Amino acid sequence: MHPRAVSLLAILGASLVLGAPRSFLNTSTLDVAVRWLEGAPDYNSGTTFGLPWPRGKFNANTTTFTGTAGSEKIQLQSWVTGYWPDGSVKWSGHAIPASQTIAEEYTITASGSDNLTVLFEKRQSAGIATDSGDGIVVDTGKISVTFPKSGSVLVSSIQTSGGKTVGQSGRLILRTQSDIIDYEDNSVNQTSIEHLEFQGVINQTTISEDSSTRALVTVSGTHQTEAGAGAWLPFTVRFYLYASSDAIKIVHNIVYDKNSSDTFVTGIGIKFDVPLAEEELYNRHVRLAGVDGGFFNEAVQGITGLRRDPGQEVSTAQVEGEETPDISTWATTVSSRTQWIPAWNDFRLTQLSPDGFNLQKRTKVGQSWVKIPGGTRSDGLAYLGGATAGGLAVGLRDFWKKYPTSLDISNAATDTGSITVWLYSPSAGPLDLRPFHDGLGESGNYTKQLDALEITYEDYEEGYNTPYGISKYSELFLYAFDTTPSSDTLATLTAHTNQPPVLFAEPDYIHSTKAIGSYWAPPDNSTAAAATIESNLNFLLSYYQQQVEQRRWYGFWDFGDFMHTYDVDRHTWRYDIGGYAWDNSELSPDLFWWNYFLRSGRADVYRFAEAQLRHVAETDVYHLGHMKGLGTRHGVQHWGDSAKQVRISTPIYRKIFWHLSGGDERVGELVREVLDVGEVWNVIDARRKVHTAGVNYVPDPTAVWISLGIDWSGIAIAWLIEWERRGPRWEESRERIFESMRTIANLTNGFVTGEALYNTYTGAISPPPTDPENLGEVTVAHLSASFGMLETISQLLDHLGPDDVPTGFLEAWLDYCYYYGASSVEQTARYGVSFGNLNLKQGHSRLTAWAANHLGNETLAQRAWNEFYNTDGLSLKTVWETEKVSGSKVLIPVDEASWLAANDAALYGLAGLENLALVGSALGDN
Ligand SMILES: *[C@@H]1O[C@H](CO)[C@@H](O)[C@H](O)[C@H]1NC(C)=O
Ligand SMILES: *[C@@H]1O[C@H](CO)[C@@H](O)[C@H](O)[C@H]1NC(C)=O
Ligand SMILES: *[C@@H]1O[C@H](CO)[C@@H](O)[C@H](O)[C@H]1NC(C)=O
Ligand SMILES: *[C@@H]1O[C@H](CO)[C@@H](O)[C@H](O)[C@H]1NC(C)=O
Ligand SMILES: *[C@@H]1O[C@H](CO)[C@@H](O)[C@H](O)[C@H]1NC(C)=O
Ligand SMILES: *[C@@H]1O[C@H](CO)[C@@H](O)[C@H](O)[C@H]1NC(C)=O
Ligand SMILES: *[C@@H]1O[C@H](CO)[C@@H](O)[C@H](O)[C@H]1NC(C)=O
Repeated sequence: MHPRAVSLLAILGASLVLGAPRSFLNTSTLDVAVRWLEGAPDYNSGTTFGLPWPRGKFNANTTTFTGTAGSEKIQLQSWVTGYWPDGSVKWSGHAIPASQTIAEEYTITASGSDNLTVLFEKRQSAGIATDSGDGIVVDTGKISVTFPKSGSVLVSSIQTSGGKTVGQSGRLILRTQSDIIDYEDNSVNQTSIEHLEFQGVINQTTISEDSSTRALVTVSGTHQTEAGAGAWLPFTVRFYLYASSDAIKIVHNIVYDKNSSDTFVTGIGIKFDVPLAEEELYNRHVRLAGVDGGFFNEAVQGITGLRRDPGQEVSTAQVEGEETPDISTWATTVSSRTQWIPAWNDFRLTQLSPDGFNLQKRTKVGQSWVKIPGGTRSDGLAYLGGATAGGLAVGLRDFWKKYPTSLDISNAATDTGSITVWLYSPSAGPLDLRPFHDGLGESGNYTKQLDALEITYEDYEEGYNTPYGISKYSELFLYAFDTTPSSDTLATLTAHTNQPPVLFAEPDYIHSTKAIGSYWAPPDNSTAAAATIESNLNFLLSYYQQQVEQRRWYGFWDFGDFMHTYDVDRHTWRYDIGGYAWDNSELSPDLFWWNYFLRSGRADVYRFAEAQLRHVAETDVYHLGHMKGLGTRHGVQHWGDSAKQVRISTPIYRKIFWHLSGGDERVGELVREVLDVGEVWNVIDARRKVHTAGVNYVPDPTAVWISLGIDWSGIAIAWLIEWERRGPRWEESRERIFESMRTIANLTNGFVTGEALYNTYTGAISPPPTDPENLGEVTVAHLSASFGMLETISQLLDHLGPDDVPTGFLEAWLDYCYYYGASSVEQTARYGVSFGNLNLKQGHSRLTAWAANHLGNETLAQRAWNEFYNTDGLSLKTVWETEKVSGSKVLIPVDEASWLAANDAALYGLAGLENLALVGSALGDN
């Protein structure tokens, strides 16, 4: 933890003139400090971050942002990622350029002005980018990079400011085979399996409008064979380049658009050529990242260790990646015989597991590979280049964690070498997305599916276990050099690749703006009871972080996720049992991690939450096809379970990161996909397996039957983000928010109605088919508010402000919050019936706390704590400890908390931190 910048609140209080929210006092200024998540990094290639601003202070049209590091002014590109309803800035995004000196802290100043042109002009700046019609050139001052607009080359050249072309023909590679080679399988003719190679073909290349400090080039297309056939596997690759930077950040996305047995991917790669014609073989260098900053350092033609010695100066130069003295100065015993020294053309590092990588090299195609000692976890960066010609390094973030991966250096002994980063290694078996079981006879029979759910907790239905539409996120960095860099430099860049520096504002400041929820607060250990909760929250976070490592929750589709429930008998998580396996955001652990980060600023929590977000948002959610915008319930395969719901894709899980990142473009695209789930519900009935028997329901676009908790809150938060960011559909989204709030308020029992009809054209809610007369339906379910409903509604209310909330909506929400945990006597008195046996009360204590806080009701606050401590979930008697299990009982020694499941962790964590913020003062010291 870094010391807090004490001045923030003082500045906030002092320089803002408090006034009516709608009046813009354009002379106000505000300084906000941002600091690095893990302390000042050793290398800064430019970065982007977001900042919140209090309601009504900075008119987006007339505010300028400036940046300083100490007394030095820094270059700053700024934009708005969120507006308050009155047009004031709610969230801004900022980019700073690369720099040699890196300050511990920067100050961003917002200054109101009456000059309406100021910000507008900045938004249009071409800056470091030039669009020449058939291509885009970005010149950062350190490198000049050309991006074509068609063809199969995404990056045609990378030139250093010294004028050397060190990279060419950046392209995407995909390999497939038509079936799985399985000699046990007599139904397949193993010799007729077809192998194909595809390349990424550009459909569109675009450049960001404002490229003054940061240029973003976005290239999209599909993979096609050389003959132009078979276009599939759409990709989007984003290249981020900052002024003064010699690096490119690359964000690579593919969407899987085939059925699981149509074809099998055998390799997904990104390849760059490195021109080497001008370089002697012995001055060409290969560097491959090993473990913890270690490097494999070799030349294409080694002149060390030979029978004859060329001279120490020559050997030292080669080993250090410097140009050797001229060959005429070498011992002639060596210089006359270089033709006999093999040149190594190809190098291959293969990480097929999170525990080990292999390394090998060969002189050319057709000759045997020679083994090189490998290691455990490669940091995932490859360099190829020359002492005089310069070269390229390309690194894949989380390389070993996303195994099977590999790094290829090829043709290093020819005029054009290349580096291929394999996001999916061709050395692994084919990527097999087929279901893990054959349906077990459940197909076509709902009774059997329901009965199977009783035993494996898997919600199976044939046709729903499809990977069609899931996607994969990869992040790479490319670095250009005029000469071979030192391996220490490469180690610094490798660390940068795996932990790209992040700037963020102080928790106290973020909290004071109320721009991202008013249900969390910085930790307060002032009472023993609060300190115990803090310590437990820390336990939960640390335990899951540790389990990721002990249980090897890594892999191409898996890294970022964790497991749902533990098997005490086998001392293992239930990785093979239906709904108990991968968690897929069940009950909102995402919100626990992200809100915990907001309140603490803890780097480890940010990194954990970031990995989960990248995984769930891509792989557990559909981005194409008839289920686009929905996600998949927890299961053995991330896409396997048949419950396809917005509870997994809800943008409430992405919102904190989206804002803090300054509007991450990929996440911005993903949250927008949820805007259209209304149409999807018309096709994929969200409640198809749980409808009340005997009710005649025929979906139609004006009336799809949804849950007000799970489904409506998921789409409502998508509308809020669209409205805040003023995206293309923000006015429609705003209308839908109001329309749905008005109509929910109009339901006789408000949120207690539980399920209702949704009009996909207007957002209006009407009574469910079980109560067409709106006499007052009571359907209260434990899951309804377990996927971000409170956080969504609370943010909606904060955004609107008390005067604009439709009549009756707040009351409807307060009623739901109050009555969920109320006695059955109270429920019956209010609704005529009791809600029955409900669980997840510990998690729901935060609803009670929200109502208590809103109403200022001390008795209700006490009730919230009682629900937190004395209902279900993790009880006061829980011993917050892990136990070591080792020996022959387990594969490897592990620490287990056999009493803990992800549901409990998520609910305790989120309720704990929210209750402390909302009703902390009522906690006392129990
Ligand atoms: C900002 O400018 C836009 C476009 O001119 C205008 O529609 C909007 O009302 C302005 N916002 C404020 C808060 O003045
Ligand atoms: C507004 O800002 C623009 C761009 O900085 C400048 O050219 C113009 O003179 C300014 N106008 C006023 C009235 O200050
Ligand atoms: C299997 O495929 C190969 C190659 O297409 C073909 O030559 C062979 O006849 C096939 N064998 C059978 C049994 O179909
Ligand atoms: C190609 O880009 C255009 C926009 O320029 C878009 O309308 C179209 O859908 C894209 N095609 C594919 C196959 O992605
Ligand atoms: C579905 O399975 C149940 C339980 O095995 C069986 O009683 C019923 O006849 C089956 N229904 C159909 C339509 O096959
Ligand atoms: C509060 O307690 C937790 C856990 O014991 C500790 O990690 C944290 O540093 C404490 N925070 C403050 C502000 O004292
Ligand atoms: C409110 O509900 C009544 C029926 O209970 C209906 O007639 C009326 O149109 C509804 N109003 C809105 C705004 O939905």
